[in-house]
Amino acid sequence: MGGMKLGIIGGSGLYGLSQLQGAHRHAQETPWGWPSDVLLEGEIEGLPVVFLPRHGPRHAIAPHEINYRANVAALKAMGCTAVVSIAACGSFTDDLPPGALAVPHQIVDRTQGRAGSFFGDGLVAHVSLADPIATELADAIMAAATGIGAPAKAGGTYLAVQGLRFATRAESRLAKAEGMDIVGMTAMPEAALCREAEMAYAVAAFVTDFDSWKDEAVTSAAVLEVMAANRTRSQMLVAALCARLAKTPLPIPSREGWEQALDHAIVTPR
Ligand code: ADE
Repeated sequence: MGGMKLGIIGGSGLYGLSQLQGAHRHAQETPWGWPSDVLLEGEIEGLPVVFLPRHGPRHAIAPHEINYRANVAALKAMGCTAVVSIAACGSFTDDLPPGALAVPHQIVDRTQGRAGSFFGDGLVAHVSLADPIATELADAIMAAATGIGAPAKAGGTYLAVQGLRFATRAESRLAKAEGMDIVGMTAMPEAALCREAEMAYAVAAFVTDFDSWKDEAVTSAAVLEVMAANRTRSQMLVAALCARLAKTPLPIPSREGWEQALDHAIVTPR
């Protein structure tokens, strides 16, 4: 596919991209309001990209306060065809210690009360979300991860929780017993909205902690400390990912059919 443009949503600890060349700022209002910040458009390793810090420039927007619809709509309006989420996460497995990179293939949504669809209000659509992650984008992230100096693991399930608080020990052990691999607060409704917007979506989740299923309890202080180390890794990952995608864009048709997700989704008669 020609004309690939990658949206990069930076999570906790990633509020800018040093490698962004020729960056222009765009204040992009949408029918759903304003996104978390102005968008930065430029090129990384020859790939057109648009960067958006999910929590705003000063990390003042909490996960449940993010206008996910405006963020995704703004990236779509800027011409993005794919979105990679860079996120911090907790881990439910010894295979993914703090500092490691998780690239999940599945998501369980336990968020509540977030505006999670562009539809409703007289227009009903049910997109397929059986496979919420664009595997070809996830594969590219994994291939790009070889040089970041941290273990990376593909597959697994991301548990999206509401926050703002971290889990109780019982919640954390239950999630582990249920087979969750990592936990975070933002992949839903982001993934669902990207599917409705017919953009590829994948998550590069950097582990900051073991949540609270082990003896230690997760704290913000511990998370922040690991996040600082993850920042360099995430910048390296983004550069390597952009270099790969500039050379080998995502194939169309895609495995999940994200580029035509609305073709058979709208059920309201026209
Ligand atoms: N983000 C980073 N660590 C987390 C955790 N343990 N739970 C939820 N979100 C997180």
